[in-house]
Amino acid sequence: MEKIIDQDKQGTALDRPKKLGNTKKLFIESYGCQMNFSDSEIVASILAKEGYDTTTDLTQADLVLVNTCSIREKAEQTVRKRLETYNAVKKTNPSMKVGVLGCMAERLKSKFLEEEKIVDLVVGPDAYKDLPNLLDEVDAGREAVNVILSKDETYADVAPVRLGGNGVTAFVSITRGCDNMCTFCVVPFTRGRERSRDPQSIIQEINALAADGYKEVTLLGQNVDSYLWYGGGLKKDFKNASEMAKATAVDFAQLLDLVAQAQPKLRFRFSTSNPQDMTRDVLHVMAKHDNICNYIHLPVQSGSTRILEAMNRQHTREEYMALIDDIKRILPDCGISHDMIAGFPTETEQDHQDTLSLMEYVQYDFGFMFMYSERPGTMAARKMEDDVPDPIKKRRLTEIINLQQQHSALRTQKYLGKTVEVLIEKESKKDAEYWSGRTPQNTVVDFPKDHYQPGDIVQVHIEQCTSATLIGKAVEPINA
Ligand code: SAH
Ligand code: F3S
Repeated sequence: MEKIIDQDKQGTALDRPKKLGNTKKLFIESYGCQMNFSDSEIVASILAKEGYDTTTDLTQADLVLVNTCSIREKAEQTVRKRLETYNAVKKTNPSMKVGVLGCMAERLKSKFLEEEKIVDLVVGPDAYKDLPNLLDEVDAGREAVNVILSKDETYADVAPVRLGGNGVTAFVSITRGCDNMCTFCVVPFTRGRERSRDPQSIIQEINALAADGYKEVTLLGQNVDSYLWYGGGLKKDFKNASEMAKATAVDFAQLLDLVAQAQPKLRFRFSTSNPQDMTRDVLHVMAKHDNICNYIHLPVQSGSTRILEAMNRQHTREEYMALIDDIKRILPDCGISHDMIAGFPTETEQDHQDTLSLMEYVQYDFGFMFMYSERPGTMAARKMEDDVPDPIKKRRLTEIINLQQQHSALRTQKYLGKTVEVLIEKESKKDAEYWSGRTPQNTVVDFPKDHYQPGDIVQVHIEQCTSATLIGKAVEPINA
């Protein structure tokens, strides 16, 4: 099924317009979550000031940067393989420098320099502003590692260079780090404690995107619903803030309201929501604004309360179901997707059945589904044995994926014969005569190009579907 993309394999080389005067070439590619792709745009911006233009041709690169993911073991293996390719290229271009960014840099630190001879510099997610100094160190033949995590770095003052995009949709990061400490997850260790970005700088970035012709913005964070601006600093220190700071603090529902009002012509999305942190206020703000897409990515990981507790997810199966009920009541046409982990330590057949029955209850539009992968340093790795045998993990994952495929098909079939609103993003991968875009619910729609252009919002009458894609024809609005 198309929507179950392998997030570990999303490497893309990125390009940007040439800037006069830049003489050096940067090849930057990103793996893993959307935040990494967004961070690479910040890195490209920092390095543009150091004389680097981006290139999509690895053989031309003076500097190769790979923005890495540690979420599962497979994600790390993918990056190690990629380093072998760089190694081969370096044989023909010995002056090429190679740097590792992102979560693997943070997790492995200077060990990277020992383990991978090709690597010249290692830079963690909060240290990108130090890249110019680190590159000087490399030029001077010294080791260059900065993996210091920060209390307040949000890159609010860096205007990202939009890389490899479609000119229609863009990401804007609003929080960094995560405090949730899910026992399976490496993110709190690699991306540090949670902090939020100044709403004014968020709105400025969104205004600039609107001025550049963008039509849709996704607000990004590991846990966006936990957003809280009270003048800067870590979320965990909010309790010590002044009464004044507390009284004027901006939470996620308020931020959504602000951005939706600031740019009524832009469509807004956000990702990722953590069930325990998603307030009903957010749902009401979504209902209030037509330009906030009715779509929520709401990872649950398991349908068993016992497993949720072992994962340190701060809600039960029943609380999650109550949130789903409220979403369906307040936003009746809301698209909902999930992340699910099969085979967490101690997971029994009954726990697995609870996962399947939760999926039956929700009937998600789509989902991202994974086998549990033990990550060094996490609480689960330290305290729990990875005791579900691989064949059982695999079988459970297959059952989860098959059920999701059935639900996805049911969800797309419901649109047959209906007319949906689509923001055109790009040419369809399947047919050069077709555009591809998404509904507010985040379902992909393909339809004949006709006279329409990327960035147009079009009404499309749905005639066919697969489990992942709607196919139809654009219809002229009555008042056009
Ligand atoms: N809050 C984050 C979650 C990042 S991790 C966000 O912005 O999406 C994305 C998904 O990877 C998680 O929801 C979880 O389903 C999966 N995942 C995380 N750690 C994992 C592990 N150790 N093994 C398998 N899957 C994992
Ligand atoms: Fe990871 Fe849980 Fe945060 S999945 S990113 S620790 S919400």
